[in-house]
Amino acid sequence: MWWRDAVIYQVYIRSFADGNGDGLGDLAGLRDRLGYIAGLGVDAIWINPWYPSPMADGGYDVSDYRDVDPRFGTLAEAEALVTEAHALGLRVLLDIVPNHTSSAHPWFVEAVASGRGSPARERYLFRPGRGSMPPNDWSSVFGGPAWTQVPDGEWYLHLFDPAQPDLNWDHPGVRAYFAETLEFWFDRGVDGFRIDVAHSLIKEPGLPDLGARAAAQPVFAHAGAHPHWDREEVHEVYREWRRVADAYDPPRMFVAEAWVDEPERLSRYLRPDELHTAFNFLYLTAPWQAGDLRRTIVRTLAEHLAVGASPTWVLSNHDVARHLSRYARRDQEIPTRQLADLLGRPADLELGARRVRAALLLTLALPGSVYLYQGEELGLPEVEDLPEDALVDPTWRRSGFTDRGRDGCRVPLPWSGDAPPFGFGPGPTTWLPQPASWAPLTAEAQAGDPTSMLEYYREALRARRAIPALRTAPFRFRDEFGPDVIAIERGPGFLCVVNLSGSPVLLPSRTTVRLSSADVVGDLLPPDAAAWVTR
Ligand code: NOJ
Repeated sequence: MWWRDAVIYQVYIRSFADGNGDGLGDLAGLRDRLGYIAGLGVDAIWINPWYPSPMADGGYDVSDYRDVDPRFGTLAEAEALVTEAHALGLRVLLDIVPNHTSSAHPWFVEAVASGRGSPARERYLFRPGRGSMPPNDWSSVFGGPAWTQVPDGEWYLHLFDPAQPDLNWDHPGVRAYFAETLEFWFDRGVDGFRIDVAHSLIKEPGLPDLGARAAAQPVFAHAGAHPHWDREEVHEVYREWRRVADAYDPPRMFVAEAWVDEPERLSRYLRPDELHTAFNFLYLTAPWQAGDLRRTIVRTLAEHLAVGASPTWVLSNHDVARHLSRYARRDQEIPTRQLADLLGRPADLELGARRVRAALLLTLALPGSVYLYQGEELGLPEVEDLPEDALVDPTWRRSGFTDRGRDGCRVPLPWSGDAPPFGFGPGPTTWLPQPASWAPLTAEAQAGDPTSMLEYYREALRARRAIPALRTAPFRFRDEFGPDVIAIERGPGFLCVVNLSGSPVLLPSRTTVRLSSADVVGDLLPPDAAAWVTR
């Protein structure tokens, strides 16, 4: 059960490294730099979708679930990558997108061509409109209505972009296809899957209007009573998927992306016969504030314990503004997730970097598995000022050009050199422009510099491996440091102290500082800093 306490590095393949010079990350670039990832001291990688796709939503619009997009490479290269990763001690998770296909998927092409009432339409959610209006009042997550009309007048549902038609999970052929797709990749040695919008597959029969509920509640909350989020029947799908994963030796694993607001709702996906893990977005959205973080940790642990599951801890990914930039806002008591939440609030990136360092020690000291998003080990901030004509996230267009979307956390990584493309690939450009100010942040510039973020991440990951208590010892809060300090004990000899107060905190006497995110002078831990101390 390696996944119970693993550190997993997220590879956003479009932006990791480019092997062929077209400015887009690919398998060749990733294979080239697998040694870098293994050298960080992580246990596994999760790779965002690499399947053939028109890229209307960065690859989350899949047109063939059992192949690799030629812009990323070939199936043979993917198989080689899995073998090479395993040889370096890295497990490999892929990303499966079951809620919707691409509109270029042969099923959807057939559905549109076959016309009303055809069996091909039953794989999706086609409905007649209400007069000239869509069949119901649901909205797309990216903005605008969740329905688009085809030439014969029928409408199809898309909770995301119109290029991502929602599948009908009541259709046995859809269920069988995905179970076989899991096997297709498991047979190729893949160790598990991240499940895209895992809570959205099932829709309430009749597709009723949201009505007042749409305005009255946050999009992702509804505790089982929502017509398309987090419905009870979705759990049967995951019970089937669990049987598929358990038939392998060693068993394969899942991590769910399910934006449900309550840990109690999330833990339902983690019952013993369902999924193994789920991203902890409560932690990701918690403000940098001791009370909130402590409450988040307590609730997370309690709800996971109730079902015997192992929690995950995650602060950034390809859908949210990088946490360095979120933590750079002094008014961080307001929960933030998207770039839109940050714009207009002054940023102090040095403060953000200090807090990121402290947050890493907290995260690595919590019981469970940890997800790191590529580039956080370089201390990359969100790119908040990408030129408008560079933006490709569908959110930008669907919001009527008001929400800049998620491109700012997807800018290609800076590897080396002192000007863009910073060694991203052999070509002159990158698919999103890199800021010239990233020169000091390249992996090359940081490597070997003990004060750099990169070396700090490496050291913390090494130390986590070297301190068995961090994986095995019981967890307990210690409260003698006051309400603005989080202190975590892992067994009798290990303490993680995180100072979220405005003044220095005295570390316990007769202890040794094993690692700290900032200099500890005279046993004083500065504000916005953390330390691992051992007795
Ligand atoms: C969640 C993915 O992480 C995101 O990037 C994507 O846009 C949506 N699901 C739709 O697939």
